[in-house]
Amino acid sequence: MIERIKDIARKAGQIMMDATRPKIMEKSGHANFCTETDEKIQAFLIEELQKVVPEASFLGEEDGQDVFTSKMSKGYCFVIDPIDGTSNFIYGYRPSLVSIALLSDGKPYMAVVFDPYDDMMFSAVSGEGAYLNTERIYSSDAPLKDSLVVFGTAPYYTELRERTFDIAQKLMPLCVDLRRSGTAVWDFCCVAMGSCNMYFELKIQLWDYAAAALIAEEAGCVVTDTDGNTLSYKGPTSVVCRARGVKELPGCFT
Ligand code: IPD
Repeated sequence: MIERIKDIARKAGQIMMDATRPKIMEKSGHANFCTETDEKIQAFLIEELQKVVPEASFLGEEDGQDVFTSKMSKGYCFVIDPIDGTSNFIYGYRPSLVSIALLSDGKPYMAVVFDPYDDMMFSAVSGEGAYLNTERIYSSDAPLKDSLVVFGTAPYYTELRERTFDIAQKLMPLCVDLRRSGTAVWDFCCVAMGSCNMYFELKIQLWDYAAAALIAEEAGCVVTDTDGNTLSYKGPTSVVCRARGVKELPGCFT
């Protein structure tokens, strides 16, 4: 099944690559964008993934399909983000990724994430490890002081801005340097493949983490909220994704 889902993600990535000057729509809040390409890819994903698991329900970022219902915690549910990194996509600042998770009875079961710019296909099945294309990936065992840290801040959650940058400022002297990519999915995958050792963000939605958090966990990361609890897989949450070398939640989160 995962090969069919990868094939669909690759085709969705091609739609992203083929898009020229897509129409931009603003959702609620400052700089909260959706483009007609997000909607086009979401419609494509739903149509194609339905053929793979006909009984599955769908939760997607766009097109009013974004409310998690109790029905979604039973049986199979696809959680999709057609373009994670929509602002990156609009401004031509890479990367942007297609993200597809399959939950089984509300728990992460399968994950496929595709970066069409660099032809990077991340995947994981619960209990079976994480892969980048055909290579198994593991998070880094380097300590925080020898690694990069990434963080996210959506511009529309204005109330979280001050705390986010306060945490970032406290982390700066504890690591080599900080980065901000503009896509939560990519941030998780960077920790999973060992190019940085920690990612944090104070509010992300289920479609931002459903696939990528499983990939990170299968690569040996510890993924929790900022209080150290496991993620709910039901809705928005804060997140700290730590590589194998970062044994404890740094004190700046408490
Ligand atoms: C956003 C990106 C961003 C993160 C936000 C997400 P979108 O997703 O992942 O990096 O800070 O929390 O909502 O809107 O570009 O799909």
